[in-house]
Amino acid sequence: MANPRKIIIDTDPGQDDAAAIMLAFGSPEELDVLGITTVAGNVPLSYTSRNARIVCELCGRTDTKVFAGADKPIARKLVTAEHVHGKTGLDGPVLDEPTMPLQTQHSVDFIVETLRSEPEGAVTLCTLGPLTNIGLAFQQAPDIIPRVHELVMMGGGFFEGGNITPAAEFNIYVDPEAADIVFRSGVPIVMMPLDVTHKLLTRKDRVKRMADLGTRPAIAMVEMLEFFERFDVEKYGSDGGPLHDPTVIAYLLKPELFKGRTCNVEIEVKSELTAGMTVVDWWHVTHRKRNAQVIRDVDADGFFDLLIERFARI
Ligand code: RIB
Ligand code: CA
Repeated sequence: MANPRKIIIDTDPGQDDAAAIMLAFGSPEELDVLGITTVAGNVPLSYTSRNARIVCELCGRTDTKVFAGADKPIARKLVTAEHVHGKTGLDGPVLDEPTMPLQTQHSVDFIVETLRSEPEGAVTLCTLGPLTNIGLAFQQAPDIIPRVHELVMMGGGFFEGGNITPAAEFNIYVDPEAADIVFRSGVPIVMMPLDVTHKLLTRKDRVKRMADLGTRPAIAMVEMLEFFERFDVEKYGSDGGPLHDPTVIAYLLKPELFKGRTCNVEIEVKSELTAGMTVVDWWHVTHRKRNAQVIRDVDADGFFDLLIERFARI
């Protein structure tokens, strides 16, 4: 591909975030990672900014610029998910502490500066965690919103309900105010909710194909996924756990794997009971603005074929 698509990955690694980043690094002809911006989410910011660099080093991509961003949500106390991801957020493999540097610039400033300096429509935002950095960037510099090509995000849930409360998915639940800013902003959104990620299970046969690659990155990824899936296997009684974040990158590489429709999506920010719920008007029963392409179906085998084929390149 002549000109790879320019992307910024905003992330709270997280084993499934690591899989998404590895998928992007395995696709250099199609994707140019301008930077990785970290945010507090699965684990505190000190760990997410550590983990992003560990993944870069694991993939031999120490040329990547990694930034630290918001250490808490816009208007709430931080809620983390060590119960799923382990204390470090990247539990599973034994990996060295990173030696590559963390950039001194704040994630939000990098996002604003990059969108202002790159040609209009040149940059895609790929979000894998709470939307705090994006919400702050849009608040601080609304002029960048029309400059975004599109925002592809993992978050939310509707028919599938929630995973951190009965109503809310974790990324949105952590920072509903940031999500509300983003969904009201007018930025073109492609949303990967639990409704699609729960169809992508790290089944034993799929993890074995990854292990059979035999490379250090693939083995480390297998160890990450085997740790990460245990919570959901227990909860859902399934063969493997849902692999959430790589859907964002897979969509950029092979959008034909996915199916959905453009709907209105609004975020609950008031009710304690349903805080962070993504209210999806799937049946268009209102005349509210259809502000997001909501993905509900995926070719799961095609997704894992792509993932494993790209992991093999690292
Ligand atoms: O609910 C799943 C999402 O929350 C994923 O992005 C996972 O990494 C966690 O951040
Ligand atoms: Ca994540």
